[in-house]
Amino acid sequence: MNIQQLLLDRFKQALGKIDAPKDTNLPLTRSTRPEFGDYQFNGAMALAKALKQKPRDIAEQILSAVELDDMVAKLEVAGPGFINIHLRPQWLAQKLGDALVHEHLGIDKETPQTIVVDYSSPNLAKEMHVGHLRSTIIGDAVVRTLEFMGHKVIRQNHMGDWGTQFGMLLAHLSDKLASDQVAETALSDLEDFYREAKIRFDEEQGFADRAREYVVRLQGGDTQCSQLWQKFIDVSIAHSEEVYQKLNVTLSRGDIMGESTYNKELAGIVAQLKEANIAVEDQGAQVVFLPELADKEGKPAVYIIQKSGGGYLYSTTDLAAMRYRSFDLDADRILIFTDARQALHFRQTEIVGRRAGLLRESTTYEHCPFGMMLGKDGKPFKTRSGATIKLADLLDEAVQRSATLLASRDSELNDQQRAEIVRKVGIGAVKYADLSKNRTTDYIFDWDTMLSFEGNTAPYLQYAYTRVQSIFRKAGVAQEGINGELIISEPQERALAVQLMQFIEALQQVEKDAAPHVLCSYLFDLASLFMTFYEACPILKTDVAAELRQSRLLLASLTARTLKTGLELLGIETMEKM
Ligand code: ARG
Repeated sequence: MNIQQLLLDRFKQALGKIDAPKDTNLPLTRSTRPEFGDYQFNGAMALAKALKQKPRDIAEQILSAVELDDMVAKLEVAGPGFINIHLRPQWLAQKLGDALVHEHLGIDKETPQTIVVDYSSPNLAKEMHVGHLRSTIIGDAVVRTLEFMGHKVIRQNHMGDWGTQFGMLLAHLSDKLASDQVAETALSDLEDFYREAKIRFDEEQGFADRAREYVVRLQGGDTQCSQLWQKFIDVSIAHSEEVYQKLNVTLSRGDIMGESTYNKELAGIVAQLKEANIAVEDQGAQVVFLPELADKEGKPAVYIIQKSGGGYLYSTTDLAAMRYRSFDLDADRILIFTDARQALHFRQTEIVGRRAGLLRESTTYEHCPFGMMLGKDGKPFKTRSGATIKLADLLDEAVQRSATLLASRDSELNDQQRAEIVRKVGIGAVKYADLSKNRTTDYIFDWDTMLSFEGNTAPYLQYAYTRVQSIFRKAGVAQEGINGELIISEPQERALAVQLMQFIEALQQVEKDAAPHVLCSYLFDLASLFMTFYEACPILKTDVAAELRQSRLLLASLTARTLKTGLELLGIETMEKM
């Protein structure tokens, strides 16, 4: 149940009664201060012009027309014409009670959509880099949330496993294997391997020709070459899987739908576009002109789908993938997570795809860009020597640093439990630091802020969760065993109650905007409100009346479940003790 939506519906009905124009927008927001109530309706201001009346007068009319007695204790007109809405505590208590006994925390599943999510998608010729880390973490949180909301999600790991660079890689691999190395050893460091191959390509006589020959053979389906390619891909995928496992993401082998899978379709796509006169020849290449994206002089953008030598491109594959997802997978939405530098590519791809009928009209094509990960110096995140940072190493470092952070805490945990917590905190910190920022901006990777118990961090939230759990241990009750009525009387109880009811609003926003930071802020606020509540409203003290204690335990229980569920949706593990 979404309070905001419920209120909006009621206001809509009221506006009908006062003959407001149908298309009025309905700004209904959370109040910023307790004295302004829980929500605020600002529609009167927008209507003043249309109805030629003072906003305050309109607000008064809305006030008498709106039917909210069941859920609202007080409505008042404030300032130039705001309507402040104070929810009825008994109503809140009743709704929270419903959420408590609901296995899905009171959140009903939505009408399911089919949503294809393209994320992680590393290039197998190289080691995964930090950009793929962002794609993997953010994409995975969005996928989990969409599934929680009841959608059918199809993960697509659009791995870069094809292209001309495989010619030199395979030629180099073939030489290594000929000199008795096994593939696993030869490819233990993909960055090194790529570098060596590139040097040979640029400098060694005859090697470049062999590399080109390998490309032709690979594309022609030559068996020996395909086997070599398969070996390369297998080892490479194993590298990615090591990272996925450390990261606790939900991607599995079955979700891999690499560029190579579309290979057979590329010729057909180009033919189709030529036939429809959408693609034309330009200097030997097949291109689509895009007047929608003209430059300052009015020259249309050029989208190449086939090179002059006949080779296909990243864009051709994306057109094939688009068709497959929209028509064969029946996607209502296609979400693609890559860094912002590819924004133009996806805009162009959508325009071409729509023109060519490769997207059903009802399918949305949503590129979800993210900013760069920067070092503390504000420059792209690299090692000291300027090399790309390997993700597996980065995650190992996170766990080591987490061990240092947690070493000073004394606890009755055994070594194994402790190691488990250290891992959850370390990995959680890296993931949360990324997820909690608005994804479109660049962000600074800083160990000290992410591994801190203060501020909007994973350790803070994980710790908050353990604190709530410890209340039940101290009270000597199991969460499932608490019964009694909810009583919402103190302002801190009320603030916590309203926040708990707003979980769905946060989730729906993540669902709509593919923006997990909204859920992070929500959980951070929830944890903070819980701490404030717990300080002001004692639970365990002996002089607390029994019903009050039960009621507060119920609030604590819903808080714990909401925190755990929310963190799970972000892909962050919790623990009972720390
Ligand atoms: N492999 C690409 C890269 O690393 C990302 C692929 C994203 N998905 C797509 N359909 N193009 O930049």
